[in-house]
Amino acid sequence: MRALANLLVDLRSDTFDEAAAAAARGRLAARGFLIEECERDDALCAWIDMAFGGGWSGEAFRAKNLVVTQDGQRRAFVSLAAQGLRYAWLRNEGARPGTGIFGPIGVSAEARGSGIGGDLALLGCLRLRELGYERALIPAVGEVQLERFYERALCARVVERIDPMRWWEPRARVVAMASGNGSNLQALLDAIARSELPVDLAAVVVNRNEAYAAERASVAGVRNIERVLWNRGEESRAGYDARLREIVERFEPEGVLLLGWMHLLDEHFVKRFPDLLNLHPAYLPHDPRADSVAVPDGSSIPAFRGAHAVRDAVAAGSPWIGASVHRVSAETDRGEVLVRRPLACEGRSESELATALRPIEHRITVEAVRLWCFMRERVRVVG
Ligand code: GAR
Repeated sequence: MRALANLLVDLRSDTFDEAAAAAARGRLAARGFLIEECERDDALCAWIDMAFGGGWSGEAFRAKNLVVTQDGQRRAFVSLAAQGLRYAWLRNEGARPGTGIFGPIGVSAEARGSGIGGDLALLGCLRLRELGYERALIPAVGEVQLERFYERALCARVVERIDPMRWWEPRARVVAMASGNGSNLQALLDAIARSELPVDLAAVVVNRNEAYAAERASVAGVRNIERVLWNRGEESRAGYDARLREIVERFEPEGVLLLGWMHLLDEHFVKRFPDLLNLHPAYLPHDPRADSVAVPDGSSIPAFRGAHAVRDAVAAGSPWIGASVHRVSAETDRGEVLVRRPLACEGRSESELATALRPIEHRITVEAVRLWCFMRERVRVVG
């Protein structure tokens, strides 16, 4: 695996003057592209999820964005000066006063090859300079062609790298918790087996005897499989919650993954494991206080939180559903969203939708765990 590169752009250089900006704007206008700026724009986030996968919209939500449109359709975007991101690659140069974060940047399939990427990148840097930044950090570039592109277009230079070995070792020790079939657990197990995630699955916890997730864990050779059942007649809810917490604590996990875990965890559990991620079968808003969320057709749907999200969405006649992986906070399904994907209902039944959602969930589960791994304290960037 290649090291990821952090590139730095000197915004005080001659590359970024008004003449360059005017030329870039002129080239875009000549091809019918318009540029606008927006912030905390839910509709933009929905478009980004649809066009580029579900991992970038959270960054765009925390940033200022330049958006390129053509005939009223979004074609490209760049996020600038994102705040509050936890990725390891932003910790050194990215945390220096005067450094503004550049990206993600994306050009949709319809506009690829049109050459707008270079102009948008230039305008993005100019905007960062206007905002008072001296340097732009282009973080976590994984491809050598992209490095060359930024070197050519913006006179960027590589200043830091994340050594893949420092990302992989020591691996993150995690516990997964599941109540049912465990197809998402399977997706995780498969990704670990393919060496796509630096994760050591210390234990799988199930809360139902018949949970097939336990069988899957056993076949995959997971060392510890804990069946932690609650017998309501014999044990108080508080007693069960404490027992569950103690069992998970024993494995000293760095992260806990709820993959189809159908049991509300109490506040002590949530406090004890701050790196607690939950897969939820709904398209959740990035604003944790919002009770609705924009979807890719420009309309908006309720944020279906709670235990029966797909059923509730079908009952409400929602034209869209989706899936999200989010951090668990004290309020149900309101923690930071790491990855999410929308899905159009197209008149399908609850069970058809649940089936259609599964492969989407499998992808976002693996992607969210990968992003979380990049947020770990242990990951280091080197100069
Ligand atoms: C998934 O659809 C997941 O989103 C949902 O349970 C299913 C588990 O599927 N989780 C919740 O509803 C949590 N509130 P799986 O057992 O095949 O992985």
